[in-house]
Amino acid sequence: MSSTLIHSSEYFIDLEHHHGAHNYHPLPVVLSKGEGVYVWDVEGKRYYDFLSAYSAVNQGHSHPKIVQAMIDQAQVLSLTSRAFYNNKLGLYEEKITQLLGFDKVLPMNSGAEAVETAVKLARKWSYEVKGIHENSAKIIVCENNFHGRTTTIVSFSNDPDANQNYGPFTPGFIKIPYNNLEALEEVLKTDAQNIAAFLAEPIQGEAGVYVPDEGYLKGASELCKKYNVLFIADEVQTGIARTGKMIACHHEGVQPDILVLGKALSGGMYPVSAVLANNEIMNVIKPGQHGSTFGGNPLACAVSMAALDVIIDEKLADNAERLGKIFRAEIEKLIAETTLITKVRGKGLLNAILINDTPESDTAWNICLKLRDNGLLAKPTHGNIIRFAPPLVMTEEQLMDCVAIIRKTILEF
Ligand SMILES: Cc1ncc(COP(=O)(O)O)c(C=O)c1O
Repeated sequence: MSSTLIHSSEYFIDLEHHHGAHNYHPLPVVLSKGEGVYVWDVEGKRYYDFLSAYSAVNQGHSHPKIVQAMIDQAQVLSLTSRAFYNNKLGLYEEKITQLLGFDKVLPMNSGAEAVETAVKLARKWSYEVKGIHENSAKIIVCENNFHGRTTTIVSFSNDPDANQNYGPFTPGFIKIPYNNLEALEEVLKTDAQNIAAFLAEPIQGEAGVYVPDEGYLKGASELCKKYNVLFIADEVQTGIARTGKMIACHHEGVQPDILVLGKALSGGMYPVSAVLANNEIMNVIKPGQHGSTFGGNPLACAVSMAALDVIIDEKLADNAERLGKIFRAEIEKLIAETTLITKVRGKGLLNAILINDTPESDTAWNICLKLRDNGLLAKPTHGNIIRFAPPLVMTEEQLMDCVAIIRKTILEF
């Protein structure tokens, strides 16, 4: 008999506590099954998943087409390394580049690795094409960014949890306020000849779903062009239909110079990430100059092609756009009834509510515990913000059911 049938949630929580590093603080619920918008705990209780593994499960849990693609490919060939060609990588590369309008893609695994790749690519381009003097290229980043957990990436984080005692840090990054085109132009005006790129999230997800003013992405992209600086969009969280378009930059008709994708690129089935760019940029990386044992493996490619097909065939971007509007309108109604929530913000199905308490308070955490008891799983970010990001396969009826759970929980509080 499987251990999941004979042990309680406490048993598994205890196991993790004793044998795993304490680098996360999970909500106390132990999941053993997922299907579409639902997950089940080991006691058999069903929940709506309102986090989607931080937007990795946009296509819903265990989507049958993605599962089938994974099984089919795993049975014939999983990994070759890039020492040899395989019969899936080229097909995947053709599909994703045509879909997103880039000449080339560089496949990696995690989101952080893809951001690292983009940083390396931009630096190399700046020396070999733009002509910046050796080892002096700078990259502009935004305050309150979240791009992952590697040493270089945490070097330009301003979250003490992310970087305290992880130094010495990688130099070469300039931090400016997010959603501030004047600040961007100011830096570009004074130092453009030494700047390789501007790296930004189209919506700051981890920071608490900060949506910039309309025109910010377009303005940033135009400024980058004006000063011959690459615009890198980190769409690891906002990409793959989450915000109502295939990538969030498309809301403003922006094509970044370098696009970074991850998470839902595999429908949450497998770590798959990607960096896309045109030849002038991507061709600076030559054989042996960057890579990954698993990046571009046939299993990842098969899963990813199926994951992209599901997004397109099921029109999940349109669904996210439509349901997102309904969700925010419903939460606005709730805000009129309570003082516990002060704001709802977001785009598509990437949303957050602000709880009327200090970031140090445990109110948002306690609300999430209550939401769990009422059958919906969400997680606070930065103390008093709760992110709501369900799988994009949700129906309107299910969404209204979730709104009712949120309403009941908040009004009970
Ligand atoms: C915008 C953004 N970039 C990068 C990452 C890092 O991705 P991963 O956790 O797969 O390394 C995340 C993860 O949340 C993210 O939201």
